Amino acid sequence: MTEPTKKPFLYVVVCACGIAGDVGKLITAAQERHWDVGVIATPQGLGFLDTEAVEAQTGYPIRSAWRAPGDARPLPPADAVAVAPATFNTINKWAAGISDTLALGILCEAYGMGIPIAVLPYLNTAQAAHPAYQESLERLRGMGVLIGSYEPHRPKAGGGADRFRWEEALELLGPKVR
Ligand SMILES: Cc1cc2nc3c(=O)[nH]c(=O)nc-3n(C[C@H](O)[C@H](O)[C@H](O)COP(=O)(O)O)c2cc1C
Repeated sequence: MTEPTKKPFLYVVVCACGIAGDVGKLITAAQERHWDVGVIATPQGLGFLDTEAVEAQTGYPIRSAWRAPGDARPLPPADAVAVAPATFNTINKWAAGISDTLALGILCEAYGMGIPIAVLPYLNTAQAAHPAYQESLERLRGMGVLIGSYEPHRPKAGGGADRFRWEEALELLGPKVR
């Protein structure tokens, strides 16, 4: 008998942005492509999510804190990681190698483990103007991280949720995942 084909497992890392609550759009798009999904939220990002709805949709608990030693791993290993939406804060910390949240720990290690990563930044032009941000993007690009095309919105002008393309994460990662 042939083994059923294992679906790719996607980690979606969610940061604390106004649009984080729409992450269900990315989960749906991934599941339509026959990927399984687990969500890792930053501690701040957790407050932007309807945790019950996300857990019902993915079938897995949302992870945000490190597990205790000896606890079972709540999620299977990742075949790919999408950071969406990605904050100014998490992008800069990740590029600098800071690992003080579970989300950052996973991102910092995923590179060394050769797991494909796509990041969809969502931030305003005032944040993007900070020199550290451009340097962070350059460093991540040099690490092979695939970077989304969202152009930062004007500060205090309602954001740009209507032009944030969640599915771009899958378009970027698709060719990298068998
Ligand atoms: C309502 C609200 C909306 C926010 N939207 C954004 C955003 O779109 N992009 C961003 O980089 N930061 C945004 N922030 C700021 C981040 O939440 C803040 O920098 C936080 O420390 C990020 O934490 P994280 O990177 O660990 O998720 C927002 C904050 C609030 C309260």
